[in-house]
Amino acid sequence: MAQSELTLTEHKPFHTQRKDVWWVQPLVVFLGLGTFILYATFRVFEGAHFLPDHAPYLTPFYSPLLFGIDEHTIAHSWFGAMPDWMPSLITPAVLILWAPLGFRFTCYYYRGAYYKAFWVDPPSCTVSEPRKGYRGEQSFPLIIQNIHRYFLYVAIVIVGVLAYDVWEALWFSDGNGGKTFGIGIGTIVLAINVVLLGGYTFGCHSLRHLVGGIVDLLSKAPIRRNMYNCISCLNRRHMLWAWMSLCWVGFSDLYVRIIATTGWKDYITF
Ligand code: FES
Repeated sequence: MAQSELTLTEHKPFHTQRKDVWWVQPLVVFLGLGTFILYATFRVFEGAHFLPDHAPYLTPFYSPLLFGIDEHTIAHSWFGAMPDWMPSLITPAVLILWAPLGFRFTCYYYRGAYYKAFWVDPPSCTVSEPRKGYRGEQSFPLIIQNIHRYFLYVAIVIVGVLAYDVWEALWFSDGNGGKTFGIGIGTIVLAINVVLLGGYTFGCHSLRHLVGGIVDLLSKAPIRRNMYNCISCLNRRHMLWAWMSLCWVGFSDLYVRIIATTGWKDYITF
C-alpha cells in the first residue's frame, strides 16, 4: 500500500484546499433558515390574524389552538379564553410552537446544516473552523440534542391535529349560524402542508430506529419490516422533505394571514 507522510499544521479559520464553491450551501441554509426564524418570530408574537373570521383556516403556527383571544377564536379553541394571569407576551402560538420548532431544531439533518451555517463548526467538510476544541454531542450542551426522540412523539400528534384542521377547513359558515361543505384554496394549502409535514416527520431517523430497532431479524417481523421500508423510503429524501415542509408551513401561515387581513373569499360551497 502506498504511503505518504503528512504534517499537521494549524490553519486559520476557513482555510481549505477545496476548489469548489463550498460556501454556497451554508450560505443558502443561513439565508433560508434565518428568514424563516425572523418571520416565525414575528408571527408568533403578533397574536392576530391566525384564524380568519369568514373562513375556517387555522394557521399551523397556532395549531392546536389551546386558548383564543377574542370571541371568534375563543369559540374555536380547546380551552376557551386565554387566562388573565398569562403575561401579554404569551400568545396562543407561544404555547404550542415550542414543540414543532424543538423537533426541527434537534433534527439530525438540521443539526448538520445549522452547525455549518450558523455556528461554522465546521463551516464545511475539510474547512477549518474558528475554534480549537471539539466537544461533540456527547457532552453538555449538545448532548441535549438527544431529546429529539421525545419531540418526535409530540410532532406525530401535531401532524394528526393539522390533519383535523384540514377537515375543519372544509366546513364554511352558511350565514345562518350553521355550516356548509365547501373547498377553498386555503383548504388545499393546509392539506399540502399536512402531506409535506407528514413526509418530513415520518421519515425521521429516530422513528426509523424506533421501528427497525430492538428486533435482531427484521425479516421475521413483517409488519415492522414494511413500516421500516416505508420510513426508509421517506428518510432517503429527508433533507428535501425538511426544506419543502419548512417553506410550505411558512407559506401556509402567510396565506392564512393574507386571507384574514384582506377578507378575500377564496372558496366555493356546495
Ligand atoms: Fe430529522 Fe428526526 S431526524 S426529523
